[in-house]
Amino acid sequence: MCPPDHYGIEYEINPWMNTKRQVDHTAAVSQWNALHTKLQDLGARVSLLQPTQGLPDLVFTANAALIYRGQAVVARFKHPQRQGEEPYFRKWLASHGYTVLDPLQDTSFEGSGDALFCDDTLYAGYRMRSDAKAMQEIGVRLGVRVIPLELVHPEYYHIDTCFCPLAIGEAIYYPDAFDEYGRTVLQELIPKLVTVSPDEAARFACNAVVLGRQVITNTGCDQLHAELAKRGYQPHATPMDEFVKAGGSAKCLTLRLDGEEAAAWKQA
Ligand code: ARG
Repeated sequence: MCPPDHYGIEYEINPWMNTKRQVDHTAAVSQWNALHTKLQDLGARVSLLQPTQGLPDLVFTANAALIYRGQAVVARFKHPQRQGEEPYFRKWLASHGYTVLDPLQDTSFEGSGDALFCDDTLYAGYRMRSDAKAMQEIGVRLGVRVIPLELVHPEYYHIDTCFCPLAIGEAIYYPDAFDEYGRTVLQELIPKLVTVSPDEAARFACNAVVLGRQVITNTGCDQLHAELAKRGYQPHATPMDEFVKAGGSAKCLTLRLDGEEAAAWKQA
């Protein structure tokens, strides 16, 4: 995670961002602290990246890279406004023992914001931020099966805003963010799918952090929480509104380094 010292809405690169609707800095700090504390209370060990002035979206560490068995495919941001983050993510990962793979060339890729494992398959969102070409290349480099899914709704511009693996064979999703093909593929490959309503999708219900059976989301996702509880999960709500202003929520503020919960390769 990266503390929100320099977080703010300094440009507009997704439909949620409006430079006239600024962040309440005190509130953002307390929401970020509450998430940080909650994750630690639930057993996560959290490492921090130092915040940097002029890089307001550096807090969204989900976009830093895709991590796979100690290797890191670092992001190549689509928008110039975020490209300055790349060296900071690269440096952090290299100095914390990750094998940083050669940068992807002539293509954009926004890390685990757009690429999530469920079992041994990588579900990869493309069109808005990451290119399908980058996803194919990653599949070849890592030797994993990639299922590219087109994101068709501008508000759900990263796959982690509309899809969240929970366990092998189980995930949360917001169907309208995908095309017919994407919905069919998800339904065929992931037997247990939890559907989120439009209202809760807009509260970033799918942008959940999963730690074992604990699931942390923004507040206002009560239907999803009820459904998760029925399925044997323990849902937790923590306010994330200051980050929704930038188009992000709980999951976006974290990068899981030891393998997302549903990843077949997850480290013990
Ligand atoms: N303002 C950031 C952007 O548009 C938000 C990133 C949210 N991150 C995520 N993994 N969905 O890039």
